[in-house]
Amino acid sequence: MALRLAQTAVQRSGRWLLPCPAAPAPAIVCTRGAGSTLPSSITQSSASQGKNRTSDDLPRIKTREMLYRMFVKGYYHRLHELQLYEKQLYGPMYVVDTGSFNSIALNSVELLEELLRKDEKFPSRGDMSLWTEYRDLRGISYGPFTEEGEKWYKLRTVLNKRMLHPKDSVKYGDVINEVVDDLIKRIYHLRRSSPTGDLVTNLSNELYRFSLEGISSILFETRIGCLEEEIPLETQDFIDSIAQMFSYSMHVVMLPKWSRNLLPFHGRYISGWEGIFKFARKMIDMKMEVIQRRVDTDQEVEGEYLTYLLSNTKMTSKDVYGSVAELLLAGVDTTSNTMMWTMYLLSRDPAVQETLYQEVSRCVPGDKIPSAQDVNQMPYLKAVIREALRMYPVVPVNARIMVENDVIIGGHFFPKKTTFTMCHYAVSQDEKTFPEPSKFKPERWMRDGRARPNPFGSIPFGFGVRGCVGRRIAELEMYLALSRIIKLFEIRPDPSIGEVKALNRTVLVADRKVNLHFLERAEERAAFHAYQRMYICLSICAS
Ligand code: HEM
Repeated sequence: MALRLAQTAVQRSGRWLLPCPAAPAPAIVCTRGAGSTLPSSITQSSASQGKNRTSDDLPRIKTREMLYRMFVKGYYHRLHELQLYEKQLYGPMYVVDTGSFNSIALNSVELLEELLRKDEKFPSRGDMSLWTEYRDLRGISYGPFTEEGEKWYKLRTVLNKRMLHPKDSVKYGDVINEVVDDLIKRIYHLRRSSPTGDLVTNLSNELYRFSLEGISSILFETRIGCLEEEIPLETQDFIDSIAQMFSYSMHVVMLPKWSRNLLPFHGRYISGWEGIFKFARKMIDMKMEVIQRRVDTDQEVEGEYLTYLLSNTKMTSKDVYGSVAELLLAGVDTTSNTMMWTMYLLSRDPAVQETLYQEVSRCVPGDKIPSAQDVNQMPYLKAVIREALRMYPVVPVNARIMVENDVIIGGHFFPKKTTFTMCHYAVSQDEKTFPEPSKFKPERWMRDGRARPNPFGSIPFGFGVRGCVGRRIAELEMYLALSRIIKLFEIRPDPSIGEVKALNRTVLVADRKVNLHFLERAEERAAFHAYQRMYICLSICAS
């Protein structure tokens, strides 16, 4: 069982969606740095002629060591921190070896750049059978996450349109702002009902609801009520199904297939997927009916992303179910946890918060609500979120399998089908790229003449053609929500919760419930003016 656990844990490192341990061995020398001019494909014979070293020359972490670190040293839920520890022990490149499965961990900015610049035409992150199994069982098409090769490429060509270009995402500004309106209402409501009159407790949960509502409003082109006080029953079932599918994933990966009929876990995992697709199917079919009615009555078909997928592409409803479900699952925890970390960091840094407030107030004076165009004029807002993603890259590890070609990385030859694990968390904490890495310094990202860090030092949305398809949508959601919140409130920490640490649970989440005080700026301003008036009166009386 322990061996199986270690093996599956390493195998899962090939998929960013799930947590992964990395592994150790003696120091290595990186002979090739950033900007390498090596050709992207190298044949076995040409590599051998070049006298490159191989994985046998690298430090190697064995199952036993890995289990010790995970379960005795307690890194199981802090696998991102294990990246830092292993880098110290083994240097920037090492093999994680569980017998049947090996992966090469890359733990420096130079090696990441070298690998990603050799990304293949159809990059692969590795085995996704955990998700494809259900799709195969029910005859549902694969989505962008699970599809591979040429089919994946064609799918991404369709999905990228209307989503990935910054000018496309601007179209969703009004839809997202309606969801932000509800988030703000909810913050007021929660503050009012708190003992201090300004506290929002369990922020991660609130931001999860916001994020799910935001992405659903784009993908289903309808509101599903996550921010209402009473969440509609169907929506609640959907939320529970997502949670169920994720929480039983671990059991399905760990336990042997023969145990599936004996133990309840696989059944619960499948029923999680049933709930997800039941809801997605209903939403998509409803939209399809609306489109059909308009077509039948010769009316123009109106709508954005879902309408585009259903009416302007060759995708069948089944294809759309598969893709929409994957877009949705990839977009919720990532966005909500990034917002949580950003707000947590801001609450602890009044100077950064004030600079951000000044920028937002300058760009959007008075009572005006920030629009998608407005946030484009806010470089500091973007820098704040970039810096939060550097410190807490919600996807702390990612992977690539070189499917087509042998490859040379760091002067070492690797045959095709080698899995590489990219240690993004440790790389974005490297002080050579980011001096004072533990400090929250959004200025690092400002284009104001200072030297900017190596872009491969922090690539929270991944890289290249297989990079995050929802990046622009996520950014817009975060910019619109954060600018509005900062305009209305000063955020302060809740001293009773202490310092929040990150746990690696698929994405980087907080190790405790995060509460923050939201002090209304209007109230503060009114109090300040009242104080000024009183002071003037008293001065007049005294004279
Ligand atoms: C802060 C928010 C987000 C972060 C940090 C993030 C990060 C990532 C990363 C690191 C990858 C892997 C990229 C690679 O392998 O190079 C990825 C892939 C993906 N993301 Fe995001 N993501 C976010 C939000 C979203 C949203 C809102 C959506 C949906 C609208 C989304 C949909 C996807 C999909 C479908 C993939 C798989 C793409 C493929 O394999 O072709 N993500 N994301």
